Parts: sequence; structure tokens; C-alpha cells
Amino acid sequence: MGYTEVYNAAKADPEAFWLEQAKAIDWVEPPTQALFDRGQDLYEWYADARVNGCYNAVDRHVEQGRADQVAIIHDSPITGTKQEITFAELQTRVSRLAGALVAQGVETGDRVIIYMPMVPEAVEAMLACARIGAVHSVVFGGFAAHELAVRIDDCTPKAIIAASCGMEPNRVVHYKPLLDGAIEMAAHKPDACIILQRAQAPCDLIEGRDVEWHAAMAAGTPADCVPVAGNHPAYILYTSGTTGAPKGVVRHTAGHLVALNWTMKNVYNVDPGDVFWAASDVGWVVGHSYIAYGPLIHGNTTVVFEGKPVGTPDAGTFWRVISEHNVRSFFTAPTAIRAVKREDPKGLEAAKYDLSCLRALYLAGERADPDTIIWAQDVLGKPVYDHWWQTETGYTIVGNPAGLEALPVKVGSPTVPMPGYDVHILDEAGHEVSRGTLGAIAIKLPLPPGTLPTLWNAEDRFRKGYLTTFPGYYETGDAGLIDEDGYLYIMARTDDVINVAGHRLSTGAMEEVLAGHPDVAECAVVGVNDPLKGQAPVGFVCLTKGVNRPHADIAAECVARVRDQIGPVAAFKLTLVVDRLPKTRSGKILRATMVKLADNEEFKLPATIDDPAILDEIKEALQTIGYAKG
Ligand code: COA
Ligand code: AMP
Repeated sequence: MGYTEVYNAAKADPEAFWLEQAKAIDWVEPPTQALFDRGQDLYEWYADARVNGCYNAVDRHVEQGRADQVAIIHDSPITGTKQEITFAELQTRVSRLAGALVAQGVETGDRVIIYMPMVPEAVEAMLACARIGAVHSVVFGGFAAHELAVRIDDCTPKAIIAASCGMEPNRVVHYKPLLDGAIEMAAHKPDACIILQRAQAPCDLIEGRDVEWHAAMAAGTPADCVPVAGNHPAYILYTSGTTGAPKGVVRHTAGHLVALNWTMKNVYNVDPGDVFWAASDVGWVVGHSYIAYGPLIHGNTTVVFEGKPVGTPDAGTFWRVISEHNVRSFFTAPTAIRAVKREDPKGLEAAKYDLSCLRALYLAGERADPDTIIWAQDVLGKPVYDHWWQTETGYTIVGNPAGLEALPVKVGSPTVPMPGYDVHILDEAGHEVSRGTLGAIAIKLPLPPGTLPTLWNAEDRFRKGYLTTFPGYYETGDAGLIDEDGYLYIMARTDDVINVAGHRLSTGAMEEVLAGHPDVAECAVVGVNDPLKGQAPVGFVCLTKGVNRPHADIAAECVARVRDQIGPVAAFKLTLVVDRLPKTRSGKILRATMVKLADNEEFKLPATIDDPAILDEIKEALQTIGYAKG
């Protein structure tokens, strides 16, 4: 069957299609039904099944002939180390860590926060939670203590698993002070912290609360897989929304097993035994789905890479890893390829390596600009597939089903909807627009298995954020169009979310931090074009009357505040002190107009603008940092 037949089959009889796909998973009790309609636009998948995620990712491969196959390759140019872990070894390591969690009092349904760098133990921590039915919530290492504290209070973990440090090219990131600071800030306190001491920077432990990794394992006995219901939450992953409070995307166990397994062959075109590599971080959804769960569930070898596209040690790192570990399919963010291209525009590094093992490059996380796609196609001589998805969905909404039927690539489009996704372009009133017309991208409910059923402890926010604008549809927050051939084009976000180096960030969250500065009366943060990172945040601040301290000092303090409260990952480096912000007569800040001005895009002066002269002041300020030159 080709793409169209499969897509249509899933649409015509979703129940039969998804029960068929479910056969690839090993169940304790198989589902008797695929979709469960819970009413009022809420849905669940495979809710009456019983299953264990870790069993499907690890144990079943040991039992079914892959015991000696490498499950995880850790390649860390940043520490100069490499390690291979077979499925049999992974089973031992994970069951011991799961036993350590049990010994610390963690039970099925308890939350466990994981705050780890790119080491195999991060994936093992996720699997150990899945093994005993604990719900993990991984927090990206580039977030500051305050962000970690917010997540601790929202998901109230029984335990936290962390490492003593992470390694960035220019510095060691000491995680322990961040962890201690976060626990101090949070109202909720975990009972225990299991700490992996890394040789690069071991840390002090707090007696009575912290347990060293190996000591924790010695204190427990290896734990078996605990069967959980199909709709048991596998994890919570926080992502940025419009406000400073992150949204806890919930992932149910059974749906994500079935859906991720389906994508490994049909999207990424790998067979069990092949090496698959997603160069992302376990803190992001790409890391959850395609460093940890997807490849392991499908019996692939996964690569855990601790390094950067450039500078660890050079722009050939990606190509070295692919060649050395025989990577079949490679997945990264466009920004990473742009970083490589900037250092090695002629692709001389790629030419040094035998890349015959590689079938294709997959890009996601932000818009893949045509220059980057074409450069990568030329340098690698392989197909480059853009695909579009979100933390909320957990896997491809729109992509090229290369393992099912490789469709012609149209540069600039991530191609076509995957089975189960009924994608529509709607106008503001919720009416379908004609082909080629820009509108809000919405997906007709129900979403397919593996996608978010709700937000953690926030069903109202889930409804308001996703289900209310277009009744009967999931609102993606992206705008785009569908062309005559049914190819989708993603053009922009419709909310205040920006995308910096493939990282999803909330300008609202940054504004909340700036507004907390004692000298700041009013502020706005917008995302402007950045040639490397796609977008870069710029803050505009108006000072409280009577403040006459040097503007440069205040701007530097604003930058430091965002780094301190959100984290270095916000890449917030630019603050402009201005007298006034452009607003509508009703007082709404014209952020979109400011972005267009910065990026030299044409714009119509909003009819409701209060004082157009303010735009000249904004333009002048932007010019001091190299924007609004047109
Ligand atoms: N822990 C602690 N700090 C981290 C971190 C982590 N896990 N990851 C990033 N940071 C820090 C960086 O050190 C940097 O700090 P600095 O301001 O002191 O330099 C800051 O956060 C911004 O990091 P980043 O956005 O990664 O920028 P960069 O200039 O270091 O590197 C790229 C630029 C393009 C090489 C890099 O962004 C990259 O590899 N991007 C790919 C992104 C990706 O894979 N996204 C996943 C979605 S699919
Ligand atoms: P995240 O939840 O971090 O994966 O970010 C999801 C958002 O990133 C989407 O809503 C889009 O705005 C953007 N995005 C992800 N993939 C793509 C893509 N292939 N093309 C354009 N934008 C993308």
C-alpha cells in the first residue's frame, strides 16, 4: 500500500487501523478497543489495555534475540568518551535503577523529575520510571533554578534524578547548586534525590535527602516491569505557552508506544537493528520520542550525543558520528545544520567521511529554510526531509512518509499529513479557506494515538488553549496553507511563542521577568529574524518615571535577570530602553508590527494605532542593534 491508501484507511476506519498497528506492541492485556470518547472533546486511546513501556523498549528485545545488540551508543566529544550498552546490559542497569527508585519509596503513579545532561543514564532514568509506572518529567539542563522550581511545584515529584554537572563547550554547568536552589524555592519538597556523580565535577550531597547513584542501586533490588493501564501517564513534558507558566503536556503510555513504533519504519525508514540518531536533547520532545522511546521500542540502536554541531571539536562532528556508528537515519534541527554550514560552507568536512550508511536527513523543530535544505542535499547527496510536529503531538503531524512511500520533496513544505491527522486551514471565523490561502492550522478531533489527552492538572487550560477557538478541532498555534497537491506550508506562530535555535520559548515568560525589574515600568519581548538561530528575542523596556541610571546598566541587568530566572537557553542578549511602546488605542502592544519593522518586512500601519510616531523611535532603537535597516 502507498501513502494515500494508508492515509485513507486510517481515516475511513480509525478503529481497525489503530488496532492493527497495536499488534506490533507486546501487551500484558491487549486493547479490545482503540478510541475511547470521554465526551466534551476529550479522547483516550487503548485505555482498557495493560502494558509496560520499559518492557517494550528493553526486555522484549532481550527475550526476542537482541540481547547482544547495542541499544545505546554514547558519543561525547565534549568529554572525549564513548560507550556502548547492549539491550541485555540496559535491562540490568534499568531494573537496578528502578529498584533504587522503589527503595526510595517511589510507587506507580508517583512523579519523578529528571534533570540530566546527555548521558545514557538520562535515558535509563526515563526507562526506570516507565518500568515501575512512575511518571517522569524531564527538565532541560539549560533552564535555570526558577524554571525547575516551577515544574517541581506543578508536578510534585516524590524523587528527583539529577547529575552533578552538564558540559557546555565553554563551561561546566554545575547542576547541583541549581537543583538545591530550585528545591529551596519550591513549596513542594521531594523525599529523595538520586545523584549521578560525574568525574568532570562531582558535587556535595545533602545528607538525608541525596543518595549517590550507585549507593541508591545497592540499597534496592532490581525491579520488574509493572503493568499499567493504556491511559496511564508515561510522562509530563513542560512546554512554553503564552504565559510564564509552562504547560505540562501529558503523554499516555499505550498510544505513544503504538504511534512511535509506527513512525520508525514509515517515517524514518529504519528496520529493527539499524542505528538511528536524533541529535537533540532528552529535555525536549524530540529527545523523548526519538532518542529514548521510539528507537528502543522498535529495536533500533539509539545514539546519545553529548556535543554541539560545531566546536566539539569541529563542523565535521555530525558526519564523523554518522560514519563511525553506521547511522541510517539522522534527525536534527535546521539551526544545527545552519551552524555547520556557516563554519564549513563548502561541505569539506562531510567529504572527509564515508557517509554511504546514511539514507536521509530529517529536520524539525522550526521552519527549515530552503537554503539550508538545498545545502544539506548537495553536501550529503541524500534526501532531506522536513517534518512538522509539536511537543503536544509527540511525533510527526506532517512529513514525508519515506519508509512507506517517499513522496516528491517540495522545498519549503514538510509534505503531507500522517495517518490519523485530519489537517485543515481555517479563517478567523473557523471556516475552511481555499487551497493556497493562509490561515490557522487546525486538526479535526480526535487526534491520533500518542498525542496529548490533556495538560497536567490543567484541563481548563487545555480546553482554552487548544479546543475552544475552533470547536471540534485542535488548534495548533501555527499558521500556514495547503497547496493544490495537498502539501502543507508552515508560515508562522499565531501566538507569542518564538523558536530560538529549535527551542520553543515564551516571550510572555520573558516579559514577566523584565517586568519584575524595579526600574521597568512596561516592556515587550518579540522574536526577530536571526540568521543562525531562526529567531532571537529582543526586549523593549520603558523605565519608571524618575529613573535616571545609565540605560546600559539597566539593559545588562535585564539580560542577567532572564538568564538567571529562565536560563541560558533563552539566549536573551538584547534589551533596548525606549520611551514608549507602540500600542493600539485600546492599549494593546503592537508586537507583530515591531517584528515586521525589525525584519524589514512590509506592513500596513494598523488602523487602530494610537501614535504612529512611536514606530520611528522603535525603528531607531532597532537600528542600533543592526535591525530595521530597510
Ligand atoms: N545545559 C546548560 N546550558 C545549556 C544547555 C544545557 N543542556 N544547552 C544550551 N545551553 C546554553 C549554552 O551554553 C548557551 O549559553 P551561553 O549563552 O553561555 O553561550 C545558551 O544556552 C544558548 O545555547 P544554544 O541556543 O544552544 O546556542 P549556542 O550558541 O551554544 O549554539 C547552536 C548554537 C545552533 C549550535 C545550538 O543552538 C544547537 O546545536 N542547536 C540545535 C538545537 C536542537 O537540537 N534543538 C532540539 C529541537 S529538535
Ligand atoms: P516544539 O513543541 O518545541 O516541538 O515546537 C513546536 C513548534 O515548532 C511548532 O508549533 C512550530 O511552530 C515549530 N515547528 C516545528 N517543526 C517545524 C517545521 N518542520 N516547520 C516549521 N515550524 C516547525
